[in-house]
Order: sequence, then structure tokens, then C-alpha cells
Amino acid sequence: MSNKDKETLGTILRDVRVLIENEARRSRGKLLVSPEVAEMLEWVRMPRPPQDMPETGVLEYPDAVERLAALGEVEDEVRACTKCGLCRNRTKTVFGVGNPNAEIVFVGEAPGADEDRQGLPFVGRAGQLLTDIIVKGMKRRREDVYICNVIKCRPPENRDPSPEEVFYCEPYLLRQLEIIQPKVICALGRIAAQTLLKNTTPIGRLRGRWYAYHGIPLRVTYHPAYILRFEPNPERFKEEKRKVWDDVKEILKVLDGNAPAIG
Ligand code: URA
Repeated sequence: MSNKDKETLGTILRDVRVLIENEARRSRGKLLVSPEVAEMLEWVRMPRPPQDMPETGVLEYPDAVERLAALGEVEDEVRACTKCGLCRNRTKTVFGVGNPNAEIVFVGEAPGADEDRQGLPFVGRAGQLLTDIIVKGMKRRREDVYICNVIKCRPPENRDPSPEEVFYCEPYLLRQLEIIQPKVICALGRIAAQTLLKNTTPIGRLRGRWYAYHGIPLRVTYHPAYILRFEPNPERFKEEKRKVWDDVKEILKVLDGNAPAIG
């Protein structure tokens, strides 16, 4: 996308937001927009101009717009990707969703059946638990964070991704992270953690410390789908959720400005 295109996209997003806000003010009520549109408008969040300032000419949000455009370019490439065999059976590629300025990026393993159908990450039951972690645990909205997977197409029967699939797909994740520049990456589950950290250490031993992934602090926690396996046993379920909460508390400290002790 050329700089001129990016500028145009930014202008359109800002104009749409102003139109919607004006309309909402005029009708003294709420206007309903789809979650996708609401999310996109959030990315060009506009602080109220001071009282004595005119409403136009003060709205500059280059970061979100630039990042949105850059992510869009990578997403286009992923949509057309045929580098590995997973492209043959996919319904949709699952690129990622969320705030292009997110402080935290959650990285899961690969899309499941629901995600493959909808083209969005973590939309099934595991996704609901991830939302609870973000909203109830971290006191953030799902649209404030960014959520994606190492692998962008569903492996058949939800099998573990092969080294070849990781080899071809991981560069897309790297580019997403380079664009977003989060403060923290949270690797969800064994496969995401071992893939990013390039080891075969059991997840229980990977938790509890900080790593750096291409210079970005990374913390490992359990995959929400793993936690859900314990649901029929309330005591164990609570115990496993408590471990995730311990990991989240460490992440929150870093998001609050504390330096992570890496290594
Ligand atoms: N599990 C994952 O690792 N990613 C998804 O998107 C959904 C389930």
C-alpha cells in the first residue's frame, strides 16, 4: 500500500468516525454498528478536542492507521499463501484480530474448526475463556489486545503443526509483531510456547519466567482449551485457572511499567 493510499485510508476512517459520532449526537442515542466496524473505529480512537479547539484539524492518529495498513498487507499475503499443504483444506485463513497498537499479543497454536469457518482466532469455547482472562482478569477489553496464532490455517483433525508448516508460517507472525510492537507476548499453550522458544521443554517448566522473542518479552501460560478439560472437576478447574491467573499477574506488572527479568 502506497503512502498516499495509507493517508486516504486514515482520512476515510476518521471521517467515518466523525460522521457516526455526529449522527449519534444528533439522534441523542446510540447507533448500532457491527462489532468489526466498532473495532476498526476504536483503532482511530479520538480524544475529545479541548473545548476551545475546532473539531477538525486536530485529529492525527498516524500509528494506528499505518499499522492497520501494514497488517492489511500481510493479511493479503496470508490469504493468498500456498507455501504449505494446509492451504488445500482451509475454509478461511485466520490472520489475527485486535488493536494494531496493542500492548499485549496473545499467540495461540493454530485455528480450530470454528476459527477456520469464521476466519477469526479464538472464537470457540477456548476463545470465550480467553475473553474472560482478558476482561475479568486483566480488566481490558478484547478489542484492546491483539490475538493470533503461530499457524494461520487449520491443521487437519487439529493435529500439531509440522516443522515445515511452522517454517513457512512463523515469518507472518514475526511481521505482525514487528508492526504492532507489543510490550508483551503471551504464548498460549505448549505448542505455541515450544514453537516460539524453539525447544521441547514441557510447558510446566516453561511457565514462571520471562523470555525474549525477537527482543519482545514473552510469558508462557496454559492454553484455554487445556484449562477447559478440567471443567468437570471444579476443584482442579479452579486450581488450573489459578495458575493462569499467576501468569497474568506477572504480565500485568510488566504492562504497568515494571521491567521483566528476562532469562
Ligand atoms: N486454539 C488456538 O490455538 N487458536 C485458535 O485460534 C483457537 C483455538
